[in-house]
Amino acid sequence: MIILTGSVKGGTGKTITAANLGVERARAGKQVLLVDADADQGNLNDWAAARSEAGHEPELTRVLLRGRDTAQQLLRLAEKFDDIIIDCGGFDSQELRQALVVCDAWVIPMKPSQFQIWTLDKLDELRNLAMGFRQSEIDGWLLTARASTHPSHDDRAVLEEVVAQRSLVGFRVLKSVIHERAAYSIAEGMGLGVSELPRPDRGVRAAISEIGDLYREVFEDDAQGTTTLVAA
Ligand SMILES: Nc1ncnc2c1ncn2[C@@H]1O[C@H](COP(=O)(O)OP(=O)(O)OP(=O)(O)O)[C@@H](O)[C@H]1O
Ligand SMILES: [Mg+2]
Repeated sequence: MIILTGSVKGGTGKTITAANLGVERARAGKQVLLVDADADQGNLNDWAAARSEAGHEPELTRVLLRGRDTAQQLLRLAEKFDDIIIDCGGFDSQELRQALVVCDAWVIPMKPSQFQIWTLDKLDELRNLAMGFRQSEIDGWLLTARASTHPSHDDRAVLEEVVAQRSLVGFRVLKSVIHERAAYSIAEGMGLGVSELPRPDRGVRAAISEIGDLYREVFEDDAQGTTTLVAA
Protein backbone atom coordinates (compact mmCIF):
# COMPACT_ATOMS: atom_id res chain seq x y z
CA MET A 1 0.00 0.00 0.00
CA ILE A 2 1.28 3.49 -0.81
CA ILE A 3 0.26 6.01 1.84
CA LEU A 4 0.78 9.71 1.26
CA THR A 5 0.84 12.38 3.93
CA GLY A 6 0.45 15.57 1.95
CA SER A 7 -1.16 18.99 1.91
CA VAL A 8 -0.38 22.53 0.88
CA LYS A 9 0.04 24.03 4.35
CA GLY A 10 3.11 23.84 6.53
CA GLY A 11 3.32 22.52 10.06
CA THR A 12 0.04 20.62 10.16
CA GLY A 13 1.53 17.33 11.36
CA LYS A 14 2.28 15.47 8.12
CA THR A 15 5.76 14.30 9.05
CA ILE A 16 4.77 13.31 12.60
CA THR A 17 1.92 11.28 11.14
CA ALA A 18 4.17 9.61 8.55
CA ALA A 19 6.80 8.77 11.16
CA ASN A 20 4.34 7.26 13.63
CA LEU A 21 2.50 5.26 10.98
CA GLY A 22 5.88 3.98 9.78
CA VAL A 23 6.84 2.84 13.27
CA GLU A 24 3.50 1.10 13.84
CA ARG A 25 3.60 -0.65 10.47
CA ALA A 26 7.17 -1.87 11.01
CA ARG A 27 6.28 -3.07 14.52
CA ALA A 28 3.47 -5.08 12.91
CA GLY A 29 6.20 -6.96 11.02
CA LYS A 30 5.77 -5.30 7.64
CA GLN A 31 8.58 -4.23 5.34
CA VAL A 32 8.09 -0.47 5.28
CA LEU A 33 9.84 2.14 3.23
CA LEU A 34 9.75 5.78 4.30
CA VAL A 35 9.95 8.14 1.37
CA ASP A 36 10.95 11.70 2.09
CA ALA A 37 9.64 13.79 -0.79
CA ASP A 38 9.86 17.16 0.94
CA ALA A 39 12.44 18.89 -1.22
CA ASP A 40 12.66 21.83 1.20
CA GLN A 41 13.20 20.24 4.58
CA GLY A 42 13.70 16.48 4.55
CA ASN A 43 12.36 16.14 8.11
CA LEU A 44 11.25 12.51 7.75
CA ASN A 45 14.69 11.55 6.50
CA ASP A 46 16.35 13.42 9.37
CA TRP A 47 14.07 11.78 11.92
CA ALA A 48 14.79 8.31 10.48
CA ALA A 49 18.53 9.08 10.45
CA ALA A 50 18.39 10.06 14.13
CA ARG A 51 16.51 6.82 14.81
CA SER A 52 19.12 4.80 13.01
CA GLU A 53 22.05 6.57 14.73
CA ALA A 54 20.44 5.90 18.12
CA GLY A 55 20.13 2.22 17.21
CA HIS A 56 16.36 2.02 17.69
CA GLU A 57 14.69 -1.11 16.38
CA PRO A 58 13.04 -1.78 14.06
CA GLU A 59 15.27 0.25 11.81
CA LEU A 60 13.27 1.96 9.09
CA THR A 61 14.54 1.97 5.53
CA ARG A 62 14.30 5.38 3.97
CA VAL A 63 14.92 7.12 0.71
CA LEU A 64 14.79 10.68 -0.58
CA LEU A 65 12.73 11.15 -3.74
CA ARG A 66 12.72 14.33 -5.71
CA GLY A 67 11.71 15.38 -9.18
CA ARG A 68 9.75 14.43 -12.19
CA ASP A 69 9.99 10.63 -12.05
CA THR A 70 8.69 10.43 -8.46
CA ALA A 71 5.59 8.47 -9.50
CA GLN A 72 7.55 5.90 -11.50
CA GLN A 73 10.06 5.46 -8.68
CA LEU A 74 7.26 4.97 -6.16
CA LEU A 75 5.65 2.25 -8.27
CA ARG A 76 9.00 0.50 -8.67
CA LEU A 77 9.69 0.68 -4.94
CA ALA A 78 6.16 -0.52 -4.12
CA GLU A 79 7.07 -3.90 -5.64
CA LYS A 80 9.89 -4.34 -3.12
CA PHE A 81 8.11 -3.32 0.10
CA ASP A 82 4.85 -4.20 1.80
CA ASP A 83 4.10 -0.54 2.36
CA ILE A 84 5.45 2.82 1.39
CA ILE A 85 4.82 5.95 3.38
CA ILE A 86 5.58 9.10 1.45
CA ASP A 87 5.82 12.49 3.13
CA CYS A 88 5.59 15.64 1.03
CA GLY A 89 6.32 19.25 1.97
CA GLY A 90 3.57 21.66 2.95
CA PHE A 91 3.21 23.23 -0.49
CA ASP A 92 2.16 22.36 -4.01
CA SER A 93 5.04 20.45 -5.56
CA GLN A 94 5.90 18.13 -8.39
CA GLU A 95 6.44 15.40 -5.80
CA LEU A 96 2.98 15.91 -4.25
CA ARG A 97 1.25 15.88 -7.64
CA GLN A 98 3.03 12.69 -8.65
CA ALA A 99 2.45 10.95 -5.34
CA LEU A 100 -1.26 11.72 -5.71
CA VAL A 101 -1.33 9.77 -8.95
CA VAL A 102 0.02 6.54 -7.47
CA CYS A 103 -0.98 6.53 -3.80
CA ASP A 104 -3.63 4.21 -2.36
CA ALA A 105 -4.42 6.45 0.58
CA TRP A 106 -4.00 10.19 1.03
CA VAL A 107 -3.88 11.41 4.59
CA ILE A 108 -4.22 15.18 5.06
CA PRO A 109 -3.55 16.29 8.63
CA MET A 110 -5.28 19.57 9.36
CA LYS A 111 -7.05 21.70 11.93
CA PRO A 112 -10.26 23.57 11.18
CA SER A 113 -8.51 26.96 11.35
CA GLN A 114 -9.51 29.41 8.62
CA PHE A 115 -6.08 29.42 6.97
CA GLN A 116 -6.13 25.64 6.75
CA ILE A 117 -9.76 25.54 5.59
CA TRP A 118 -8.81 27.83 2.73
CA THR A 119 -6.44 25.16 1.44
CA LEU A 120 -9.34 22.78 0.77
CA ASP A 121 -10.05 24.35 -2.63
CA LYS A 122 -6.44 23.85 -3.68
CA LEU A 123 -6.48 20.27 -2.39
CA ASP A 124 -9.65 19.66 -4.38
CA GLU A 125 -7.96 21.06 -7.49
CA LEU A 126 -4.95 18.77 -6.97
CA ARG A 127 -7.23 15.80 -6.47
CA ASN A 128 -9.07 16.54 -9.72
CA LEU A 129 -5.77 16.88 -11.57
CA ALA A 130 -4.54 13.54 -10.22
CA MET A 131 -7.83 11.85 -11.11
CA GLY A 132 -7.04 12.56 -14.77
CA PHE A 133 -4.12 10.14 -14.48
CA ARG A 134 -5.74 7.48 -12.31
CA GLN A 135 -8.20 4.70 -12.96
CA SER A 136 -9.27 4.37 -9.35
CA GLU A 137 -10.88 7.02 -7.19
CA ILE A 138 -8.86 8.64 -4.46
CA ASP A 139 -10.39 10.23 -1.40
CA GLY A 140 -8.59 12.82 0.63
CA TRP A 141 -8.67 11.56 4.20
CA LEU A 142 -8.77 14.66 6.37
CA LEU A 143 -7.13 13.88 9.67
CA THR A 144 -8.00 16.21 12.51
CA ALA A 145 -4.49 16.84 13.80
CA ARG A 146 -2.91 18.99 16.49
CA ALA A 147 -6.45 19.21 17.84
CA SER A 148 -7.21 21.04 21.04
CA THR A 149 -7.41 18.88 24.16
CA HIS A 150 -9.79 21.36 25.77
CA PRO A 151 -13.01 19.48 26.65
CA SER A 152 -15.21 22.17 25.08
CA HIS A 153 -13.45 21.94 21.70
CA ASP A 154 -14.37 19.37 19.08
CA ASP A 155 -12.11 20.17 16.14
CA ARG A 156 -13.18 17.04 14.28
CA ALA A 157 -16.87 18.02 14.39
CA VAL A 158 -16.01 21.50 13.09
CA LEU A 159 -13.94 20.02 10.26
CA GLU A 160 -16.75 17.66 9.34
CA GLU A 161 -19.18 20.58 9.20
CA VAL A 162 -16.82 22.54 6.95
CA VAL A 163 -16.55 19.62 4.52
CA ALA A 164 -20.35 19.16 4.51
CA GLN A 165 -21.01 22.87 3.93
CA ARG A 166 -18.67 22.94 0.96
CA SER A 167 -20.13 19.73 -0.50
CA LEU A 168 -16.61 18.48 -0.98
CA VAL A 169 -16.98 15.11 -2.65
CA GLY A 170 -13.75 13.19 -2.64
CA PHE A 171 -12.84 14.22 0.89
CA ARG A 172 -13.89 12.76 4.18
CA VAL A 173 -12.91 13.30 7.77
CA LEU A 174 -11.27 10.31 9.42
CA LYS A 175 -12.74 9.14 12.71
CA SER A 176 -9.33 9.25 14.38
CA VAL A 177 -8.13 12.48 15.94
CA ILE A 178 -4.56 13.42 16.80
CA HIS A 179 -4.45 15.97 19.62
CA GLU A 180 -1.74 18.46 20.41
CA ARG A 181 0.42 16.57 22.92
CA ALA A 182 3.98 16.94 24.15
CA ALA A 183 4.46 13.21 23.54
CA TYR A 184 4.63 13.77 19.78
CA SER A 185 7.42 16.33 19.88
CA ILE A 186 9.34 14.42 22.57
CA ALA A 187 9.24 11.22 20.49
CA GLU A 188 10.19 13.17 17.37
CA GLY A 189 13.33 14.48 19.07
CA MET A 190 14.41 10.95 19.99
CA GLY A 191 13.81 9.34 16.58
CA LEU A 192 10.92 7.38 18.08
CA GLY A 193 7.21 6.88 17.56
CA VAL A 194 5.02 7.69 20.56
CA SER A 195 4.42 3.99 21.21
CA GLU A 196 8.17 3.53 21.80
CA LEU A 197 8.57 6.22 24.46
CA PRO A 198 9.94 4.87 27.73
CA ARG A 199 7.86 5.20 30.92
CA PRO A 200 4.63 6.33 29.28
CA ASP A 201 2.64 8.80 31.38
CA ARG A 202 -1.02 9.69 30.84
CA GLY A 203 -0.36 12.03 27.90
CA VAL A 204 1.86 9.47 26.18
CA ARG A 205 -0.73 6.74 26.68
CA ALA A 206 -3.36 8.98 25.11
CA ALA A 207 -1.07 9.63 22.12
CA ILE A 208 -0.37 5.90 21.75
CA SER A 209 -4.10 5.22 21.75
CA GLU A 210 -4.85 7.80 19.07
CA ILE A 211 -1.99 6.63 16.84
CA GLY A 212 -3.34 3.08 17.25
CA ASP A 213 -6.78 4.23 16.13
CA LEU A 214 -5.30 6.01 13.12
CA TYR A 215 -3.19 2.98 12.22
CA ARG A 216 -6.26 0.73 12.20
CA GLU A 217 -8.32 3.21 10.24
CA VAL A 218 -5.64 3.63 7.57
CA PHE A 219 -4.38 0.07 7.24
CA GLU A 220 -7.30 -2.08 8.31
CA ASP A 221 -10.42 -0.19 7.19
CA ASP A 222 -8.91 0.29 3.73
CA ALA A 223 -11.58 1.36 1.28
CA GLN A 224 -9.26 2.66 -1.42
CA GLY A 225 -8.61 -0.44 -3.51
CA THR A 226 -5.51 -0.66 -5.63
CA THR A 227 -4.17 2.01 -7.88
CA THR A 228 -3.42 1.70 -11.56
CA LEU A 229 -1.13 4.22 -13.17
CA VAL A 230 -2.51 5.52 -16.43
CA ALA A 231 0.28 7.91 -17.28
CA ALA A 232 3.19 9.41 -15.43
N1 LIG B 1 0.01 16.30 17.59
C1 LIG B 1 1.04 17.11 17.88
N2 LIG B 1 1.26 17.51 19.15
C2 LIG B 1 2.31 18.31 19.46
N3 LIG B 1 3.19 18.76 18.56
C3 LIG B 1 3.02 18.40 17.29
C4 LIG B 1 1.95 17.56 16.87
N4 LIG B 1 2.04 17.37 15.54
C5 LIG B 1 3.12 18.07 15.14
N5 LIG B 1 3.70 18.68 16.19
C6 LIG B 1 4.89 19.55 16.14
O1 LIG B 1 4.67 20.57 15.19
C7 LIG B 1 5.78 20.70 14.34
C8 LIG B 1 5.33 20.46 12.90
O2 LIG B 1 4.95 19.10 12.78
P1 LIG B 1 5.30 18.30 11.45
O3 LIG B 1 6.75 18.52 11.12
O4 LIG B 1 4.83 16.92 11.58
O5 LIG B 1 4.41 19.11 10.42
P2 LIG B 1 4.47 19.08 8.85
O6 LIG B 1 3.09 19.20 8.36
O7 LIG B 1 5.25 17.92 8.38
O8 LIG B 1 5.28 20.43 8.55
P3 LIG B 1 5.95 20.86 7.15
O9 LIG B 1 4.81 21.30 6.27
O10 LIG B 1 6.84 22.00 7.54
O11 LIG B 1 6.66 19.68 6.59
C9 LIG B 1 6.82 19.71 14.80
O12 LIG B 1 7.80 20.39 15.51
C10 LIG B 1 6.08 18.74 15.67
O13 LIG B 1 6.82 18.33 16.78
MG1 LIG C 1 6.91 17.81 7.16
